Amino acid sequence: MPTIYVDNQAFEVAPGQNLLAACLTLGFDLPYFCWHPAMGSVGACRQCAVKQFKDENDTKGQIVMACLTPADDGVRISIDDPEAKAFRKGVAEWLMASHPHDCPVCDEGGECHLQDMTVMNGQVSRRYRFTKRTFRNQDLGPFVNHEMNRCIQCYRCVRFYHDYAGGHDLVALGIRNEIYFGRHADGKLESEFSGNLVEVCPTGVFTDKTFKAHFTRKWDLQTAPSVCVHCGLGCNTIPGERYGLLRRIRSRYNGHVNGYFICDRGRFGYEFVNAESRLRDTMMAAQTPHAAGSARSARGAVSARPAPPEDVVAHVADLIRTAARSGRRVVGISSPRASLEANYALRDLVGEDNFFSGMSDHEDRLVRLIIGILVTGPSRGSSLRELERADATFILGEDVTNTAPMLDYSLRQWLRRRPNPERTRLKIPAWNDAAVGEIVHEEPSALYIATVAATKLDESAAEVYRAAPDDLARLGFAVAHLVDDAAPPVPELPADIHDLAVATAQALTRATRPIIVSGVSCGSEAVVKAAANVAWSLRARGEAAELCFVVSECNSIGLGMMGGRPLSEALQAADDPGVELAIVLENDLFRRAGEAEVERFLGLCGHVAVVDHSETRTTAAADIVLPAATFAESTGTLVNSEPRAQRFYQVFVPAGDVRESWRWLQDVRMAAGGVEGDTKGEIEGGTWHSVDDVLDDLCLTFPMLAPALSAAPPAEFRVHGMRVPRQPARYSGRTAMYADQTVFEPRPPDDRDSPLAFSMEGSEEQPPPALVSRVWVPGWNSAQALERFQEEVGGALRGGDPGKRLFEPPVVERPSHFLDVPAAYSPERDQSLVVPVHHIFGSEELSMKAPAVRECAPEPYLGLCGLMAERLGISDGGVVTLVSDAGVRLLKAKLFASLPDYVAVIPAGLPGLEGLGAPFYARLIARKDADD
Ligand code: SF4
Ligand code: SF4
Ligand code: FES
Repeated sequence: MPTIYVDNQAFEVAPGQNLLAACLTLGFDLPYFCWHPAMGSVGACRQCAVKQFKDENDTKGQIVMACLTPADDGVRISIDDPEAKAFRKGVAEWLMASHPHDCPVCDEGGECHLQDMTVMNGQVSRRYRFTKRTFRNQDLGPFVNHEMNRCIQCYRCVRFYHDYAGGHDLVALGIRNEIYFGRHADGKLESEFSGNLVEVCPTGVFTDKTFKAHFTRKWDLQTAPSVCVHCGLGCNTIPGERYGLLRRIRSRYNGHVNGYFICDRGRFGYEFVNAESRLRDTMMAAQTPHAAGSARSARGAVSARPAPPEDVVAHVADLIRTAARSGRRVVGISSPRASLEANYALRDLVGEDNFFSGMSDHEDRLVRLIIGILVTGPSRGSSLRELERADATFILGEDVTNTAPMLDYSLRQWLRRRPNPERTRLKIPAWNDAAVGEIVHEEPSALYIATVAATKLDESAAEVYRAAPDDLARLGFAVAHLVDDAAPPVPELPADIHDLAVATAQALTRATRPIIVSGVSCGSEAVVKAAANVAWSLRARGEAAELCFVVSECNSIGLGMMGGRPLSEALQAADDPGVELAIVLENDLFRRAGEAEVERFLGLCGHVAVVDHSETRTTAAADIVLPAATFAESTGTLVNSEPRAQRFYQVFVPAGDVRESWRWLQDVRMAAGGVEGDTKGEIEGGTWHSVDDVLDDLCLTFPMLAPALSAAPPAEFRVHGMRVPRQPARYSGRTAMYADQTVFEPRPPDDRDSPLAFSMEGSEEQPPPALVSRVWVPGWNSAQALERFQEEVGGALRGGDPGKRLFEPPVVERPSHFLDVPAAYSPERDQSLVVPVHHIFGSEELSMKAPAVRECAPEPYLGLCGLMAERLGISDGGVVTLVSDAGVRLLKAKLFASLPDYVAVIPAGLPGLEGLGAPFYARLIARKDADD
């Protein structure tokens, strides 16, 4: 370990760092602007100046930039040197010459790195007395607000946006001393990661526009550690609330998962929590909607009205007893967007035989297949951080930018930092971003992408391949066979695809850490099996090949590990022996199966009770509604695609009758239990007093989930006997916030589920990492305070990154490959294969209830290649009639440059296309012909 001397004190530091990172790790207050732990050093701002001395006899020294100077053994520097201090103060002063000093009205106030640094420099007044340079701001779309006058030209924004996130439309435009950071014209920022500018920019140039719409001072936010619910990656987040309104989401550092950043869906999709359509009252229809067992075409006519919670719970319990007496069933339909605890409470209520998967049948099969592959090994599921250390990647069937956006971001980090012989020869450290950026990679990237439609990552790939899912799988199987001939060969592979397979196999076998990325989005089991075969073939050769699977929802893997019977069986159960009561947990069935099928099921059920937080077509058809808490209003556990169990915590107490789903389900169980004829006979599992009790029970039933118990401290955990406050010490208005309702200060609500308090009182010590919901230390109010919470800058949080990996695969010498190689795709007569493709904004259910996200979603369309359009006689924007088993739909044609022939794509999950999740065959007719 090198020893460095800071103001004549010796310190041991980790090798390979620069002086700034080393000093910050040691806890020194050294100002900086352009350096960022995730982006390295460029030396643009000159703010991190220190005095460096040759040896202990050198009294003169010279000014150097700490961020550009290696922390080598024996280096001597002074932070307190008067000349260095004056230099830093002067730099901040000139950077701020035109800064508007509008801190009292600036959205950055309270978390401003510029404020912190000026205070650190001892600047207390402004000397500049001349006209300030001013700029016109741009409308950058619904996510990010622009206020250019506050800019200090540190270049962090364009570096992040262009070099790290792969965006092209934010640039530095300059003339003389006027540098403008913006787009060539007004318009939405195109990058899927634009929201990170809010945290990357050290001043208030880029701020969160959704937060601005319901602004509150940052120190008045109540926060709790949370997990994003908008895809299966489980990025860590910090939601902030004031007056019962969720006001923003920030990224929460997790070195294993999302690192410093999150995607725009995760940051701006939160407003479904505030939506007017939120369900807040318990409701039930005044009368039994129809005679038990008689079929109805739709439940649209059912109108549940608000009713007291105890009456609704008693009514549901009554229905359970009636079912037991009549021999009809009570079925429970689970949810991949609900917590482990909520799903388990449903299973506990209805029993194993009546517990059905809330995923569509094809997704359920795919998720179980993925779990099986990860459990049996030998390839383990890769974390995002591990993905960044890959040296070859093969993406099979997944457009990760849209299905798991932060996976795209991780791949870009790998591409930027991948080994470069020239960089090694020149001994350039990875943190020296200015020099790294100068060196062009001569060799191709070792990224191979095979997908149905073009993806944003294609521009960085060595090879791309467009094909129908079965043909993608055949490429994968061929690669696996080339790597290890124990894997099955692929018959009749065209020569060009064979060549592509050879190139991919060679790149993967040359690598020491290859990773295969695949997932559920193109709806093909063959694709997933092919991905596993490739990884297993590499393993058989001794490579450390890992798999990275993408699943759709925040708890798809958790639910998959809990089992449950296929959804189609539940839908059929309504026929015989008949369903007296269907309990649907946090799920819109119209997104999981065909419209007609779901309507028929709902029509045949005697009663439908929905436990959910948001209005859906299913809640509209229910005669009983129990309003559920969202992720921000409850505590629970989710399992991401790694699979890693992570705890999210309640941020605030919701208004209305809203309660955690598991508590509703327990109430029903308690109300129904112990009564003669009860389906369960007597209450099983006793009473759960907290979410920990549910998890304890759950882990007894599913031992493989048991590591989830140590994903976070239990509810009884205390720091020196105290809870961890959700409100910062500067939280204001506590005694006045509710003065219109009471002149007495209300007692903070109890929290039975976590060691957190709905209060500013509690321990001021740094809590365990899973409980950290804000980073703040004296003098550091911005996100940059994070350095004081990490073992070392950019490393794990002190005490380890939150969450618990559920299992490691066993060592398997010779994995048994999948043998079922599919036949090549051949279009059926007059039919085309229609494959759903995903959009970051539009395909995911909950974020689409956020106005800003909805604004960015595309209109429904049918994507075609030029050949197909020509055959149909249709041009871009023309109307196509799509005829399939799911019915007839009219869609606008959109021409895609590189789609396979006889394959069309539709956007998954958009309104009107929700139930069409899997590839299907359809007849396409130009509207003109259809009219004929
Ligand atoms: S806009 Fe912000 S991040 Fe970009 S150069 Fe200006 S101060 Fe730096
Ligand atoms: S990548 Fe997924 S989990 Fe991460 S922030 Fe985006 S939507 Fe959320
Ligand atoms: S932080 Fe070192 S020059 Fe900007």
